[in-house]
Amino acid sequence: MSDILTLGVLASGRGSNFQAIIDSIEKGHLRARVAVLITDNPGAYAIERAKNHNIEHIVLRPRDFTDKDAYYSHIAHELEKRGVELVILAGFMRIVGKRLIERFPNRIMNIHPALLPSFPGLHGQRQAVEYGVKISGCTVHFVDEGVDTGPIIIQAAVPVYDDDTEESLSERILKQEHRIFPYAIRLYSEGRLMVDGRRVIIKGERRDAVITNPPLEEA
Ligand code: GAR
Repeated sequence: MSDILTLGVLASGRGSNFQAIIDSIEKGHLRARVAVLITDNPGAYAIERAKNHNIEHIVLRPRDFTDKDAYYSHIAHELEKRGVELVILAGFMRIVGKRLIERFPNRIMNIHPALLPSFPGLHGQRQAVEYGVKISGCTVHFVDEGVDTGPIIIQAAVPVYDDDTEESLSERILKQEHRIFPYAIRLYSEGRLMVDGRRVIIKGERRDAVITNPPLEEA
């Protein structure tokens, strides 16, 4: 791993998690650079964020490829070409194909707006409100071939109130997403994540450090 971690970001929409990562880099909290933003959506606001920070962006739409394998092989190729070491799914609203996963084993991170393994798939926040749980949150995990099933790196919990809507809960969770995603990438960049089967061991983490609450100044 080089001194500065090279990231490739995949995003489909607003890109606020992408922005949180950029901000963390610019504040000097994360020794990384984003080599490229790849999006499946030409209207994604994430593209504006890339432009604002002089980050290259590419629009790749699945319908322009013969099949899912061709699409994800091409994405892998674009990432490898730029020396990407870690792939970040920052609101990439597709199930990633195996052609990408096999070329970046345990080197793709996703953020999910629920405490996995609860409420995987789409609308994690809505699922939590409808189910009636009292605590939800977000999860950063490595990506495997299942839907939100890969080894969990870090989670943050938030309360769910009686009068919460999908929107109000999403907003509360999003604040935590913006803390823990850059923090998880930082742990990776410091070589502190060890994957042991389903478990991710954080090297050098104090026993009493509550992983659900990484210190704010480190995120
Ligand atoms: C985030 O809440 C992220 O957790 C969620 O999409 C939102 C993207 O927001 N991702 C998923 O639901 C993935 N299954 P952003 O574009 O502002 O980062």
